Amino acid sequence: MNVLMVCLGNICRSPMAHGVMADRARARGLDITVDSCGTGAWHAGELPDPRTRAVLARHGIPLDHRARALQEKDFQEFDLILTMDRANLSDALARCPAPHRDKVHLLRSHTGGGEVPDPYYGGPDGFERVFEQVSQAVDAWLDRIQAS
Ligand code: 4NP
Repeated sequence: MNVLMVCLGNICRSPMAHGVMADRARARGLDITVDSCGTGAWHAGELPDPRTRAVLARHGIPLDHRARALQEKDFQEFDLILTMDRANLSDALARCPAPHRDKVHLLRSHTGGGEVPDPYYGGPDGFERVFEQVSQAVDAWLDRIQAS
């Protein structure tokens, strides 16, 4: 199975979700390939934000990723496309061919249905909160994947 995490810039939230899902899937022995991208391309080629890297490192989670923009072919190639907030969701759905629309969901749809707010302009606390929200949501998705 292939899972794609989507946010706006692909430097803060979706790389966090990418690293966490790959790590948790590996820990459960699940064969899941994870990638991430942004609905925008401003940061393409960049490493994740240093604050995302710091939180992942503190939790012992490796991540090797350079930012990239969402592409048309992602909708064919991925089985599950999980967005951090509702703007990402509507941007992704607007670009998604009709046959693939049921692959696209809010990451937190099974854990309260809220958004993972953009932490870019806030302090480091915001990044730890992103980690907590993403971790809960990833566990819930992996429970569902394992149960299916
Ligand atoms: P992300 O955060 O979508 O979680 O990667 C952002 C990073 C950069 C910008 C916006 C959001 N930006 O406007 O540059």
